[in-house]
Amino acid sequence: MSEERERTFVMVKPDGVQRGLVGEIVSRFEQRGLKLVGAKFMRIDEELAHDHYAEHEDKPFFEGLVEFITSGPVMAMVWEGQDATRQVRAMMGETDPADSAPGTIRGDLGLDLGRNVIHGSDHEDPGANEREIELFFDDDELVEWEQVDETWLYE
Ligand code: RTP
Ligand code: MG
Repeated sequence: MSEERERTFVMVKPDGVQRGLVGEIVSRFEQRGLKLVGAKFMRIDEELAHDHYAEHEDKPFFEGLVEFITSGPVMAMVWEGQDATRQVRAMMGETDPADSAPGTIRGDLGLDLGRNVIHGSDHEDPGANEREIELFFDDDELVEWEQVDETWLYE
């Protein structure tokens, strides 16, 4: 095993939920071999939106971002696996769907920067995954379980 197994926070944003893309996105992570250990279909309130996007508080797009992320339900999830945070970000594509390669989630399913379908913890921000998981999930909402295909996924 070359990299550590870790958990990362992923969320299908309100546009992805409205457009019926939850199944497609869950399917991609399942097929990759990542393990789902938490999932919550929920509406983000103003306070949680501010906490989650605190790093962007001073940016001109902040208010629009908060309005969008609170505008409808999201599918919040925790996925576990080898190098999970970086691998999920790679599968998502770039922040702007227009710059995202075909084959990535944003490159296949989106067109516009402000409607980019999915959030994933930033792998370049140490501790972001743990922080975001804690923000959205209580410990007892995360499920420990063994994947039957684990010995075929990992050497
Ligand atoms: P996210 O946090 O939502 O997963 O997206 P990200 O890491 O790829 O991008 P980030 O820099 O964290 O930006 C958060 C979200 O803000 C919106 N954004 N708008 N108008 C703009 O210049 C601008 N820049 C960013 C995007 O919707 C982005 O996902
Ligand atoms: Mg981000």
